[in-house]
Amino acid sequence: MNAVETILNHQSVRNFTGQSLTDEQVKTLSEVVARTSSSCFFQTVRVIRITDREKLERIAELSGDQEHIARCAEFWMFCIDLTLLMQQNELKAPFPFRFFYSGMNDTSLTCQNVLTAAESMGLGGTIIGGFKPGIVEISKMLNLPFGVAPCLGLILGVPDVNYLEQQKPRLPLDYLIFENTYKDVVTKEGIDEYNATLREYYENRKYNRRSIDWSSACSAMLGNTAAKTALNPLIEYFKGQGFSFD
Ligand SMILES: Cc1cc2nc3c(=O)[nH]c(=O)nc-3n(C[C@H](O)[C@H](O)[C@H](O)COP(=O)(O)O)c2cc1C
Repeated sequence: MNAVETILNHQSVRNFTGQSLTDEQVKTLSEVVARTSSSCFFQTVRVIRITDREKLERIAELSGDQEHIARCAEFWMFCIDLTLLMQQNELKAPFPFRFFYSGMNDTSLTCQNVLTAAESMGLGGTIIGGFKPGIVEISKMLNLPFGVAPCLGLILGVPDVNYLEQQKPRLPLDYLIFENTYKDVVTKEGIDEYNATLREYYENRKYNRRSIDWSSACSAMLGNTAAKTALNPLIEYFKGQGFSFD
């Protein structure tokens, strides 16, 4: 598949055959990491491949019992690493906020690039942000030194085709793309229509059927106080790793 076809065919994959990635696939995806655009060409992205089943099981637990993490072939943790800049260029902690900002940009771009490349190779995966409540323990588990912090995870594997679904419907394109100036194009009818489309998707998909729509799913997510509380240590963790938010 070419790049556009791959991207337009995307769906998150959470069920795998149990096969490992080949050395060749890992090498290609590693080259994708290196080739991704880099803010100021600082090259601050580092990836830790987690293949150890015990570690995967613990990360799954710390991520709110996301079983698909324990079942994937491997989990790639995309981290910001400022240690090389500290050694080479006298960057000192606390790191100005722009390093957090550009580091998040770079890790996100790299993670999505790897996912797209993996999909183009017949692999599947899902981006994982849900590890954040366990960031302190995971950071210790991965031996991350001062100046390094995990930003985004990615599970990868060979898709179990029995679990492939219809693609999840998105907001209409004219809600997403504007020319030259921001426009408020949202209407109640438009949202009602999208909610009906998404409800139909959730009620009729093969697995994990639910009777919800987009608005109710968002409000459930936003109102989840346990999830919010679990993220309280996040800023302190990043500060402890040398990042500043000033
Ligand atoms: C930053 C980010 C974090 C995410 N974290 C998780 C996660 O922790 N667990 C999970 O199952 N999916 C996670 N996802 C995947 C989204 O749920 C998924 O992309 C979205 O529901 C759209 O579905 P699709 O990718 O199949 O089109 C995450 C996606 C992003 C971009």
